Amino acid sequence: MKRRQFLTIGGSSLGAVLLSQCVSRSGRQPSPHPGALVQSALPGGKPDLEAHLDAIATEIDLGDTRARLLTYNGQIPGPRLEARPGDRVRIHLTNRLDTPTNLHYHGLRIPPTDRADNIFLRVEPGETFTYDFTLPSTHPAGTFYYHPHLHGFVGEQVFGGLGGIFVVRGDLDAIPEIETAQEEFLFLKDFGVSTAGNPAITTGLMAGREGNLITVNGQVQPQISMAAKGLLRLRLVNASNARFYRLALEGHSFHLIATDGGAIEAPVALSELLLSPGERAEVLVQANQEPGSYRLWRLPYNRGGMGMMGGGMGMMGNSSSARLPTEEPIALATFTYTTAVSPTVLPLPQYLRPIEALPTASVQRQFKLNHGMVPGQGMAFLINGRSFAADRLDTAVRLETVEEWEVRNTGVMDHPFHLHTNPVQVISRNGRSEPYLAWKDTVLIQTGETVRFRVKFADYPGRTVYHCHILDHEELGMMGTIEMQT
Ligand code: C2O
Ligand code: CU
Ligand code: CU
Repeated sequence: MKRRQFLTIGGSSLGAVLLSQCVSRSGRQPSPHPGALVQSALPGGKPDLEAHLDAIATEIDLGDTRARLLTYNGQIPGPRLEARPGDRVRIHLTNRLDTPTNLHYHGLRIPPTDRADNIFLRVEPGETFTYDFTLPSTHPAGTFYYHPHLHGFVGEQVFGGLGGIFVVRGDLDAIPEIETAQEEFLFLKDFGVSTAGNPAITTGLMAGREGNLITVNGQVQPQISMAAKGLLRLRLVNASNARFYRLALEGHSFHLIATDGGAIEAPVALSELLLSPGERAEVLVQANQEPGSYRLWRLPYNRGGMGMMGGGMGMMGNSSSARLPTEEPIALATFTYTTAVSPTVLPLPQYLRPIEALPTASVQRQFKLNHGMVPGQGMAFLINGRSFAADRLDTAVRLETVEEWEVRNTGVMDHPFHLHTNPVQVISRNGRSEPYLAWKDTVLIQTGETVRFRVKFADYPGRTVYHCHILDHEELGMMGTIEMQT
């Protein structure tokens, strides 16, 4: 728990709350040999990670305001879950909401079926469902994200507050420079709540709802003190329904070490970092400036808007609520340190892990993202001209094959394209090749952009989905089904 004791917010002691937010693995057995068939390792045995998640509407303090939010166990964010490759995980989800729900393990490489990452499950109000799965022993270490995923309720439930971090600890965490860094999780989420006499403001469904109050780990502008360690490891999750975060830290650069699917090959220095909804990243920051306080900024970013469509809004909203507000830089958090450490004393790691580039693909597919009128439905968000239908199979793929997908955004808003179960490697954007290899599960496709990525359908048969991770767009139809077939 040492990493948590440095996080103090508004001077009040949050130790007890923060401690209770981390559900760690308990009584862990030594993991099976690498490559062993972990599914059979602990038949019916004691799980390595067991957690209870109660989805419940609760009154929560957000900054100087109190709001009724949707929570897991009364916490924003939900408990942090931690496991290791090879671990057996059991999660008991109790639905105390008045709508049905379920859980999705965003980015985890587990089956999309049965009691694992099955987004077609429906847990009714009052019911408890137990998820039970085993992480493969080859699972990469990284920052993953759990949230509800029942179509028709996702946007509402995520915007209302449901979500949490799922950490897989492994090789990346054992790299000496990273192991000694001070670790902080930043769970970025906005809420539409009234504050100090100002009314709750949210943008419309068509734009994707953004709330007026931005929180980091459920806190408004928290202060994060750095101990005299010199190196900070930030693990960032964009858990917002629709808000993008273009991030920069005053006076410091970010050294990117991991993306959605875990480590990249070597650190990449960045002056800013853009995270669209569903994306995660890990960065190292060197405390090598004058001791002091430095703000983490969310810089303006234009993700487009339905206002650009002119008057034709259809029946889903009016034009004022569909337009995104004019943006100013917003301070999200403040980092403080009292001792500067020379980078020669605490260097960055030189190398993280090898990433094998996926080979040229034997199958190519094209996807076009846009919105449009659908008879009987009004304005909808579409993939290849079609709005989501759970009982229609859109994409059938063969296990063990590599495919190359070309996703083109011909609409007026950016769309983060997310694929479940198997991570992808972006090859190019508008014909320009990506500067470094990385595993991604959520790929931003900007307005007018054509992005090519490769994916290997490696592990699991079964049906799941790909969709826009502006969850209101997913709800309005921008989702397709995929089946991995043997
Ligand atoms: Cu994070 Cu299908 O979603
Ligand atoms: Cu997902
Ligand atoms: Cu979208």
